Amino acid sequence: MTDTDAVTTTTPPIIELKDLKVWFPVHGGIFARHIADVKAVDGISLKVREGETLGVVGESGCGKSTLGKAVMGLVPVTSGSIQFQSVSGESVELTQLSRREYRPYRSEIQMIYQDPYSSLNPRLSVEEIVDEPLRVHHRSMNREQRRIRVEELLERVGLRKEQAERYPHEFSGGQRQRIGIARALATRPRIIIADEPVSALDVSIQAQVINLMQELQQDLGLTLIFIAHDISVVQHVSDRMVVMYLGNLVEVGQTEQIFRNPAHPYTRALLSAIPRPDPELKREGRIVLEGDVPSPMNKPSGCGFRTRCPIAQPSCSEQVPSMIQVGKRQRAACPYVDQYEELLK
Ligand SMILES: Nc1ncnc2c1ncn2[C@@H]1O[C@H](COP(=O)(O)OP(=O)(O)O)[C@@H](O)[C@H]1O
Ligand code: SF4
Ligand SMILES: [Mg+2]
Repeated sequence: MTDTDAVTTTTPPIIELKDLKVWFPVHGGIFARHIADVKAVDGISLKVREGETLGVVGESGCGKSTLGKAVMGLVPVTSGSIQFQSVSGESVELTQLSRREYRPYRSEIQMIYQDPYSSLNPRLSVEEIVDEPLRVHHRSMNREQRRIRVEELLERVGLRKEQAERYPHEFSGGQRQRIGIARALATRPRIIIADEPVSALDVSIQAQVINLMQELQQDLGLTLIFIAHDISVVQHVSDRMVVMYLGNLVEVGQTEQIFRNPAHPYTRALLSAIPRPDPELKREGRIVLEGDVPSPMNKPSGCGFRTRCPIAQPSCSEQVPSMIQVGKRQRAACPYVDQYEELLK
């Protein structure tokens, strides 16, 4: 477990999102006119502090990967801002950069992908895979220096340096994810965005990979954004967490606090669905979420969660609820959190 006291609210944010929107335009008809937008990320404001592990959770389709890709400069941002505090001390507005202008910062922000089977090029050896970011970002290193660095990285993630000559198909899922981690670490990034890094792995090896990531996070002082659809995965990994629903944040706070006292009806439902409840945590019975997440192309008016919310009120369709303080360091986007039990009756 990372030391939550080490990261306080006075630590300056390394990344700050302000009202970030990533809408994917949909074209249709014979004139291919713009007919709608997929509102994958729909107005997210968030601070990530240096050295912390931030968990990002929400069901599939809620916009988690798009959020990560926006920070990586891999999808066009519709509006809002992403301020990044670079190692050089300058504050950079990432949304204003072209791909070329973004390149110098790419070495500081790296991503680990969900599927270790499709994210590694099968034609390249492990050495070539891990060497690639070094060739791009560290042009001053010669071949021999890079080879040594690749070996160090492989050992750092629990592989043997002799395995550098091998190809991805010769490795198990867990080992492939270790290769992905070595590649992400190659440029000595300060921020790692891990997009569901263990969801494609056998349950039996998930813990090993999570432990490795936590160890690296602490040893290297990394800032880690850990994305998961399974809320139980972030419990022991993250200091702070955010819960996403249909492109919006619905709850933000200290992980421990949210697990003990979830406020938003969506967070309550996610937590109640964890199969083996921890007897020490307060539990109401299981809350079954009816139906699927609505399409982000056709979001419900007002609160996006109202079509599935067990305490939805007529006024919930009128406006998007803003975040309110519900605990010392916990906020939720629902005006009815205090009346949850009464309204549920
Ligand atoms: N490039 C894209 N073009 C159009 N729609 C997209 C694109 N990428 C993601 N989406 C849509 O945006 C929504 C959010 O997707 P995603 O960010 O992958 O969610 P998550 O990672 O939480 O499962 C989904 O409805 C998805 O289909
Ligand atoms: S605003 Fe209304 S619909 Fe949304 S979570 Fe709160 S009670 Fe439910
Ligand atoms: Mg995803």
